[in-house]
Amino acid sequence: MTYVISGHVRVACVMVGLPARGKTYVAQKVCRYLQWMGIATKVFNVGNYRREIVGADQKHSFFDPSNAEAAQRRLQCALEALGDMLRWFEEENGVVGIYDATNSTQARRKLLQTELEKCGIQPMFIESVCDDERIILDNIMQVKLNSPDYAHMTDSESILEDFRARIAHYEHVYEPVQEEDLSFVKMINVGSKVIINRIQGYLQSRVVYYLMNLHISPRAIFFSRHGESMFNISGKLGGDSDLSPRGRKYSEALPGLISKHLDGQNLTVWTSTMRRTIQTGQHLPYPKLTWKALDELDAGVCDGLTYEEVEQQYPEDFAMRDNDKFNYRYRGGESYRDVVLRLEPVIMELERQHNILIIGHQAVLRCIYAYYLNYTHDELPYIKIPLHTVLKLTPRAYGCDVEQYRFDIEAVDTYRANPKHPSSLRRVGSLRRAAATNQGAATINAALSPLPTQPGQLNAHLPNSPLIGVSPPVS
Ligand code: ATP
Ligand code: F6P
Repeated sequence: MTYVISGHVRVACVMVGLPARGKTYVAQKVCRYLQWMGIATKVFNVGNYRREIVGADQKHSFFDPSNAEAAQRRLQCALEALGDMLRWFEEENGVVGIYDATNSTQARRKLLQTELEKCGIQPMFIESVCDDERIILDNIMQVKLNSPDYAHMTDSESILEDFRARIAHYEHVYEPVQEEDLSFVKMINVGSKVIINRIQGYLQSRVVYYLMNLHISPRAIFFSRHGESMFNISGKLGGDSDLSPRGRKYSEALPGLISKHLDGQNLTVWTSTMRRTIQTGQHLPYPKLTWKALDELDAGVCDGLTYEEVEQQYPEDFAMRDNDKFNYRYRGGESYRDVVLRLEPVIMELERQHNILIIGHQAVLRCIYAYYLNYTHDELPYIKIPLHTVLKLTPRAYGCDVEQYRFDIEAVDTYRANPKHPSSLRRVGSLRRAAATNQGAATINAALSPLPTQPGQLNAHLPNSPLIGVSPPVS
């Protein structure tokens, strides 16, 4: 399966909504989803331009529509961001630009529509409407108190008061999207109702479908590779072997850890169709679902060989894989890029779901982990996901917390470092990852919480983070 995006399709997703309606959250999620699938996507956040051009510490009066001088500066910020986005489309072959601002009046939307269409870019407006006071307050508490806009203030009450006044200014001029000629999707109260108008085209429909699956209820996503398998012990790739005796011990220990983390909540377990993942999940007392899409990367003619045998029998292929592991496709098998594409429905379903435990394989879990933790395609095939280790991901406003629990049950190490960057392995240990947001850098925190264990069963470990063998980008 391949997604072919015609070279001429260029889409601008224009966010619309009052402050604290999740526009930046949605913009970041859509951006990550498309980038992960290999579509050149970038967010242009007008708030960042404002902070750069006029400084971050503006009081609510800066957003008062009757403040003519400030309105002029705000328009300048919006136009600079638009100019950069248009240049990015032209000079860097952008495919989806996400223009993140309130865009709350018809006049502003008309201006954007005209400028975009002049350049052959299809505008698609994404409006978030929310009148649930509880959600709005929660959003302010979660992300606005720590916004760089309020770095100079310490008193939460004053921040709350100022932000509410900012919202009120926007409410005076806000015109909900209802222009019949626009292509738009309107999400009401976090997707409890969705209205779509004139959505055409493959990319636009994918984005709408993705938006319809998003939710913000708290939940956890657990990742575990299958327990050690007989093939793992002999260093063989692929196959459909059974668990080793140590792998079986892991399958017996797994329910203890998972139940402690659930605190009585529901969970669904997803496995691949392979024996080793199904056996790993066999003692877990939760509903289970088997996904063909979660099967391990298909090593084609190399299935059943060790890395050494692959190097001897297919030296050119072996070198090509080291040269570009993400794109290298095994003869008769798959590349990491292929696996990402076949996992797209899994990601879509994960966004819809609540607590999920995925019992998967090394390559497949790397792909899913990379989606949540913003790894590039170069980094992705070198993410470390050791055996007998559970990763717990907790999605947050602009990122994800990660906790790692390593069981005290030995297993072989199936990791093969990138020979181009062997030394960079030493930097494993940092779990902080930055994601570009309008707040500068949102960190993805590895919570280093002590492990609630049954005595002797598991060990909390920090040092071997599920990280990578190549250097991360500097955001
Ligand atoms: P501003 O205009 O001040 O930049 P914003 O609309 O961009 O605000 P965000 O900064 O994205 O708002 O708010 C993030 C919060 O929004 C998160 O806590 C997230 O849980 C929540 N959120 C995400 N999606 C939605 C939605 N569709 N409706 C309301 N809140 C949402
Ligand atoms: O060795 C275990 C395994 O899951 C193999 O079945 C698979 O081919 C391999 O890991 C994927 O890892 P890599 O892409 O690093 O070779």
